[in-house]
Amino acid sequence: MRRSLVVVLDFGSQYTQLIARRIREQHVYCEVHPCTTPPDRIAAMAPRAIVLSGGPASVYAPGAPALDPRLLDLDVPILGICYGMQALCHVLGGRVVPADRREYGPATITVRHAVGLFAAFGEGEPVDVWASHGDRVEALPPGWRLLADSPAAPFAAACDARGRIHGVQFHPEVVHTPRGADMIAAFLFEIAGCRPDFTPGSFVDEAVERVRHQVGDGRVVCGLSGGVDSAVAAVLVHRAVGDRLTCIFVDNGLLRRDEAVEVVRTFRDQLRLPLVHVDASRRFLDALRGVTDPETKRKTIGRLFIEVFEEAASGVGGADFLVQGTLYPDVIESTTFHGGPSAVIKSHHNVGGLPERMRLRLVEPLRELFKDEVRRVGDALGIPHHVLWRHPFPGPGLAIRCVGEVTEERLRILRDADAVLDAEIRAAGLYERLWQAFCVLLPVRSVGVMGDDRTYEHVVAIRAVDSVDGMTADWARLPYEVLGRVASRIVSEVRGCNRVVYDVSPKPPSTIEWE
Ligand code: XMP
Repeated sequence: MRRSLVVVLDFGSQYTQLIARRIREQHVYCEVHPCTTPPDRIAAMAPRAIVLSGGPASVYAPGAPALDPRLLDLDVPILGICYGMQALCHVLGGRVVPADRREYGPATITVRHAVGLFAAFGEGEPVDVWASHGDRVEALPPGWRLLADSPAAPFAAACDARGRIHGVQFHPEVVHTPRGADMIAAFLFEIAGCRPDFTPGSFVDEAVERVRHQVGDGRVVCGLSGGVDSAVAAVLVHRAVGDRLTCIFVDNGLLRRDEAVEVVRTFRDQLRLPLVHVDASRRFLDALRGVTDPETKRKTIGRLFIEVFEEAASGVGGADFLVQGTLYPDVIESTTFHGGPSAVIKSHHNVGGLPERMRLRLVEPLRELFKDEVRRVGDALGIPHHVLWRHPFPGPGLAIRCVGEVTEERLRILRDADAVLDAEIRAAGLYERLWQAFCVLLPVRSVGVMGDDRTYEHVVAIRAVDSVDGMTADWARLPYEVLGRVASRIVSEVRGCNRVVYDVSPKPPSTIEWE
């Protein structure tokens, strides 16, 4: 049976991705498309339901994204959220007026009819919601009925006569609407008849089929970094095409302590992936000699990576495809209504240039998934927990954490300090609660005292951050005892370091990495 699909039309809300996340959390597959997608294209996707996102515009603003009325002819259940509801009312003959002031923040609505979205609620029940809208629905379209109201929004929720089209003037998708998940579930299952058939297992089966179909009897190469995305993508593709996949692991000499050994052990020995391990440490360190400018470092490493990868891939002979671990947020950011500039921020993370140069076609088996879904799929594929929950690690590796010149001696100090931090963070049970925790070696020396002697040695900064996506972050409030233990172990155990500082800068204005 065909998998249930929900189409989320993006009218520019900052919460659009969140709507998609909430639907996926109910195990229903959904895709985000721009609000300008022609209705016949949407019809061809045969969705079970359509959700219209919120958006910053007023339906009266010149150039406001319009709702194509032909969408309503598809006879698919629709949920309009904030702007989505206003656009529905506008098209269907209701009245939308600009409010004197924007209603923003917590609000309490009262359920007037416990049906549809509110089937699991009681009549007269007050419900906490998060409101954020400028315009206000002043009169419902003919035949519609009120489901809930609030002092500021007389039509906080309503539906059409058949109960197929619903609109809400608040955001069920944000955490500040505590029972938003119940409303979304009611829409998906009771109103639209979706099935919760999007599970890691079903995804794996379909993805394997798709990869087989795309690759035919071609040969595939995959750059393995040890990170979550490339690991899951590689294992999935291996399941699809077996040993026609070759994984290439380029050891650039800029990895954390023992990491190269660990990658080989996990992927070649444990997961049995065909793996070519290229130790190119010397070449990278030679190329980085004397380089201190962060951008030059990144470019040097990126260029050399392509060179080394290309050589290794040509050794494989006749590769036609390259696996890439692109995820859904990257896809959404580059295609939707407000996408564009935000997509550029991360472009340096990808292996740019390779596919064109090598004339390879891309295999992107994770294009539809969010990060947490990738982890669940990885789990279903039997990938070890420590690989799936590893902190992100930048492609240019320790080079961009060695502020100043990258030398073997400086890398040694950084690695040793980093290993102490990593061990202590894990021992304190904090590893999986943090987005990242790492050390940075600063290009300064400081005076210290050891016994009766004066020392003049390196300074290490600890960087630990909380974040949901790496786009913004805050410094982690690590317990003082943990910080104290890490600092004293580093200065006593790491030769050449006599001072440790803690970085308390949020992103923005700082970035997570120092370079
Ligand atoms: P910044 O430093 O930009 O980092 O705040 C945001 C997140 O991205 C990671 N990062 C990279 N990842 N290649 C990568 O694969 C890179 O060149 C790169 N630069 C930064 C960083 O570790 C953080 O998680």
